[in-house]
Amino acid sequence: MMDRDDATHSSEAQSSAAHGGLMDAIYRNQRHIYDATRKYYLLGRDRLIADLDAPDGGTVLEAACGTGRNLVVAARRYPRARFYGFDISEEMLKQARRNIDRAGLSDRITVAQGDATDFDPQALFGVAGFDRIFISYSLSMIPPWRAAIAEALAHVAPGGSLHVVDFGQQERLPGWFRAGLHAWLAKFHVAPRADLEAVLREAAEAAGATPSFGALHRDYARYGVIRR
Ligand SMILES: C[S@@+](CC[C@H](N)C(=O)[O-])C[C@H]1O[C@@H](n2cnc3c(N)ncnc32)[C@H](O)[C@@H]1O
Repeated sequence: MMDRDDATHSSEAQSSAAHGGLMDAIYRNQRHIYDATRKYYLLGRDRLIADLDAPDGGTVLEAACGTGRNLVVAARRYPRARFYGFDISEEMLKQARRNIDRAGLSDRITVAQGDATDFDPQALFGVAGFDRIFISYSLSMIPPWRAAIAEALAHVAPGGSLHVVDFGQQERLPGWFRAGLHAWLAKFHVAPRADLEAVLREAAEAAGATPSFGALHRDYARYGVIRR
């Protein structure tokens, strides 16, 4: 019998183009209400941004940047860093470009289309590596999410860090809440990754880097940092 994770692995064969098409279909209409609604349940994003501590003149990448909401908040917080983001969905990127333009940050934030499981930052942005890379509430939507962690870590510059926030397992919240949340998220092709901590720790060990990990809001969300 296949468990949830085996099922996820079997769908990892889905092509990048097909997955991008699925994301476009999910977000074609949602993108207009995304920022207004997600602020109530994508918890921990601002904590991640506060912890980035982006250095002056440094480079920061968000893999799977969606509407660009995080990039805009981060660029305001770290006015002397340069920001980059990519997403597999052109629909989300339309919204990101609009949001970045409205914020007057087009000269400091560059976005492009790319797949988090296999991206070339030199080709996308003319940048070899980044001082900070972050992935926010996207590993739960990327079937080969382990590959996305390895790929991101490979593009963190020496001395830099990878920051991740995503849904937890709600272990310290009522069972009915967890069951309801997971059923609702599944409708949007979102699967909280129960072994996120183990996979981040393995990736850190393989890279000779230092991991730290924690739960937020009674395990509503989980949060990890790998420092190279
Ligand atoms: C829930 S949204 C999160 C957006 C943003 N990071 C945030 O915190 O608001 C998930 C995003 O992941 C993107 N995505 C899914 N699979 C991807 C992949 N393989 N590569 C790049 N982006 C991907 C989706 O298009 C979507 O924009």
